[in-house]
Amino acid sequence: MDPQQQAIAEEFDGYRETYDQAVNRAIAFSGQKVESFTRAKANDLLRTVSSRFASPSQLNLLDVGCGIGNYHPFLTPVVGAVSGVDVSRACIEKAQQRNPEVSYSVYDGDRLPYPDGQFDVTFCVCVLHHVPPDRWAQFVSEMRRVTRAGGLIIVYEHNPRHPLTRKVVRDCDFDRDAVLLTKTQTRELLTTAGCTDVATNSILTVPPMGAFVEKLDGLFAKLPFGSQYRAIGRVMD
Ligand SMILES: C[S@@+](CC[C@H](N)C(=O)[O-])C[C@H]1O[C@@H](n2cnc3c(N)ncnc32)[C@H](O)[C@@H]1O
Repeated sequence: MDPQQQAIAEEFDGYRETYDQAVNRAIAFSGQKVESFTRAKANDLLRTVSSRFASPSQLNLLDVGCGIGNYHPFLTPVVGAVSGVDVSRACIEKAQQRNPEVSYSVYDGDRLPYPDGQFDVTFCVCVLHHVPPDRWAQFVSEMRRVTRAGGLIIVYEHNPRHPLTRKVVRDCDFDRDAVLLTKTQTRELLTTAGCTDVATNSILTVPPMGAFVEKLDGLFAKLPFGSQYRAIGRVMD
């Protein structure tokens, strides 16, 4: 493994049991817990794929940089299959303990351990800002490689222009080395990787406080005020 990638993997190994606590400390000022944010983004992901595919229950999803598998309990009841991959072996072990029905793998941060075109949807949540910038293009290109033609790549990232997001990143122990990406940078990465119909939308403009507020949040998707954003690209046929 590349030494920089190895250091990142080892850092996250150390959060196997304390990942949620570290996030909860950083977001304590908001009165919310990590689970509320996870649920809101998992629901956003499910709404996004359900609006683009006829049968979500047939879909094969890959979560790149899945950590301890926080998203998977929300996804497995709805989609056909979920796989998770990460550079942190300890996080993957924890994820597997928590979600026995999910298929997990560890990899070297270079080549994803799957054949070309295996997944309908490949997504990552708050991972790219931990990947060294000179490896961003390779990371997204691998997401595209393992996604079938007509499938989707979805990237969730922090909005670097949002003051409270910058506070969370400053206060979160494992975000010390994070390099945040603008929407434009993420759109360019997806386009360069060969995606079409690339689009970004704001999410979490309002705090995640249940189904009604999530619907309200959707109304603000075109405004630039979300604390995070979602970038989507379709893999060309
Ligand atoms: C902030 S955590 C997010 C975990 C999970 N996506 C979530 O939102 O709960 C970032 C994760 O990215 C992983 N990571 C860092 N570089 C990676 C890479 N090149 N490929 C895959 N995962 C990576 C870390 O090991 C860590 O588990």
